[in-house]
Amino acid sequence: GAALATVTLVAVGSVVAPGSAGAAPGNPGAPRYSAGAASVGDPYFPDEGNGGYDVQHYDLTFSYDPATRYMTATATITAIATQDLDRFNLDFRGPQISSLTVNGHANGFTRDGQELVVTPRPKLKTGQAFTVVVRYAGVPGPITDPDGSIEGWVPTDDGAFVVGEPQGTPAWLPTNDHPTDKATFRFTATVPQGLTAVGNGQLLSEETRNGWTTFTWDSTEPMATYLATITIGTFVVTRSTTPSGIPVYVAVDPRQVAGSAAAVAQIPRMIDFFSAQFGPYPFASTGAIIDRAPDVGYALETQTKPIFSSAASVGTMAHELAHQWYGDSVSPQRWSDIWLNEGFATYAQWMYTEYNGGASVSQTFNSSSNYGRAASSSFWQIILADPGPEDMFSNIPYNRGAMTLHALRGKVGDATFFRILREWAAGHRYRHAATADFIALAERESGQNLDAFFDVWLFQKGKPTSW
Ligand code: ARG
Ligand code: ZN
Repeated sequence: GAALATVTLVAVGSVVAPGSAGAAPGNPGAPRYSAGAASVGDPYFPDEGNGGYDVQHYDLTFSYDPATRYMTATATITAIATQDLDRFNLDFRGPQISSLTVNGHANGFTRDGQELVVTPRPKLKTGQAFTVVVRYAGVPGPITDPDGSIEGWVPTDDGAFVVGEPQGTPAWLPTNDHPTDKATFRFTATVPQGLTAVGNGQLLSEETRNGWTTFTWDSTEPMATYLATITIGTFVVTRSTTPSGIPVYVAVDPRQVAGSAAAVAQIPRMIDFFSAQFGPYPFASTGAIIDRAPDVGYALETQTKPIFSSAASVGTMAHELAHQWYGDSVSPQRWSDIWLNEGFATYAQWMYTEYNGGASVSQTFNSSSNYGRAASSSFWQIILADPGPEDMFSNIPYNRGAMTLHALRGKVGDATFFRILREWAAGHRYRHAATADFIALAERESGQNLDAFFDVWLFQKGKPTSW
């Protein structure tokens, strides 16, 4: 049965370097320098994210040789200071750094766990755009999560499987690693000829020289760091276009082609179905990466191209594509809001099953893996709006989350329910939102006070019996 997670609350304020703050008396406009916070204060991952700046763009140019697992990389991060900064942090758990500059000036930095601490000189003023260039080289690796799963940079027998939810991206790229700071991305990856590097967004170029091939991938819409991928391997690549004109790039490990054929064939139909239900597909391209990474054991909604560690089923493909609206375009404000990702994607998967002639959404709601579970089951003993980091990918956010949406649909009626879903996607497009925002939207659109309803489904333990 599912265990109850312990949630540790850590208060994180902005860290002020002693002696650095304070304008001269009589000079109120003078900068007041201090250190950016070392965290955004998300209690599930207290080291994740930082304060004092807002990243606009990440550019990573690197080479990787699967034979040695060695990476040589240059990351260029463009950001805007949101306070006068004499110090700021990035999240980085990757290989050894050989140099770091801020606005072209060679810079002091230290590393402590995942914190890369930078002391820019000259210091940075509020509103100032700045560029950090980090050069590093070595062997990146996986990161283990509170639930025991692995993510980050995961070597495979023919390359690397690259996923980052909720904290894996700093394994290979210095970032402000929290969904509340989205940015655009460009990856330029050089790999041995014959291998393919597949990233988020659109392929700008692919060029082979002296036995190495360089792939450049461009993500033109804002993306949360955890949704980044640049996965490397032997892939069968298929390019096409949906009936509605969205480019599709699918890369499949040759060993997964047969087992994934049905799911791959339905990508355009899924995109069109979800667009009709949820509003326009939010990104410039779509597709999938179907790899073989036996130690990972899950799929992830990497932006524009969901990634699979084994053959893709139709249901999981529908789930990951639905995440493009719910999770990717609208991301959680705190990791405790994870049901806003997983409950929505699971509900969309139920909808697609019904659309495809399978079980109806009501049948799935009532099944033995959902509402049909006995009231005595430990399933009901985790609070949906705060499952804890060990259970954030357990079946609570997925199944109880989807059940909550179906119960809401019954309460407000189909027309209002689908208006709420579309407005959730439209109103928070490319940004992030919290559970309280969803409750407020549902109450606004329905004209009902839904506090008791949401209390029972989101904030209480136990099997809801009346709502
Ligand atoms: N969001 C993914 C999915 O439902 C699951 C990611 C699980 N990540 C992990 N580190 N266990 O599609
Ligand atoms: Zn999911």
